[in-house]
Amino acid sequence: MKYSFLVLLAFALVFNPCEAQTKRGMGNDLLTQSATFDTIKLLAPDTLGGKPLMQAIAHRKSDRQFESRNLSLKHLSEVLWVANGINRTNGKRTVPSAMGLYPLQTYAVFSTGIYFYNPQKHQLEPLVKGDYRALAGLQTFVDTAPLNLLFIAKGKSVTDSFLKAFMDSGYCGQNVYLYCASEGLKCVVRAGAKEAELLKAMHLGDNYKFILAQTIGY
Ligand SMILES: Cc1cc2nc3c(=O)[nH]c(=O)nc-3n(C[C@H](O)[C@H](O)[C@H](O)COP(=O)(O)O)c2cc1C
Repeated sequence: MKYSFLVLLAFALVFNPCEAQTKRGMGNDLLTQSATFDTIKLLAPDTLGGKPLMQAIAHRKSDRQFESRNLSLKHLSEVLWVANGINRTNGKRTVPSAMGLYPLQTYAVFSTGIYFYNPQKHQLEPLVKGDYRALAGLQTFVDTAPLNLLFIAKGKSVTDSFLKAFMDSGYCGQNVYLYCASEGLKCVVRAGAKEAELLKAMHLGDNYKFILAQTIGY
């Protein structure tokens, strides 16, 4: 009887479901989902977390050296939310947009593929499988960084004015900069990418325009 109890206790300690749940919440889901190239359900942001705004501004800077390890699911979820997520019940965003047009779409480039960020569902949806990081920039650190965000404007046609999208992108980039400073992440905003090749790889037509990129990691 005593022996059975000990066996049960050992089993419970080794296969603790609460611990497994915590580990999944901390990022294992992200690794599994990106490996299988499925939709990545993002976590709700912790709006009480991070450093106070003035400290984040004091620490904001650009970095160009990144570890190869993936962002945790928490960091990935919050980066996308601050970059272009929805923060009000009326559907408006964490970033302002000229005339409320929201021409910018956000894409996440991982070693496993490129995902579209759906702000309404707060999830990453698979677009193209494969390592396209080298197309996301013109500098070598981009090729190995765990996450490159792309801000891409969708216009009515190639002749559509993308000026407002360029202006809007500054707010996305700065939100990400301040979030990274607040969480001790590294990032740099970038104007360069292999635009034509990138849009082709993403199957986006000529009514789309690459506007800005941002590399993020540890
Ligand atoms: C619109 C814009 C485009 C940028 N493009 C690049 C880029 O392509 N590559 C890069 O390494 N840094 C780029 N930067 C980052 C700047 O080089 C950086 O902000 C500047 O040197 C000041 O350094 P700090 O951000 O650490 O204060 C860009 C910054 C802005 C605002």
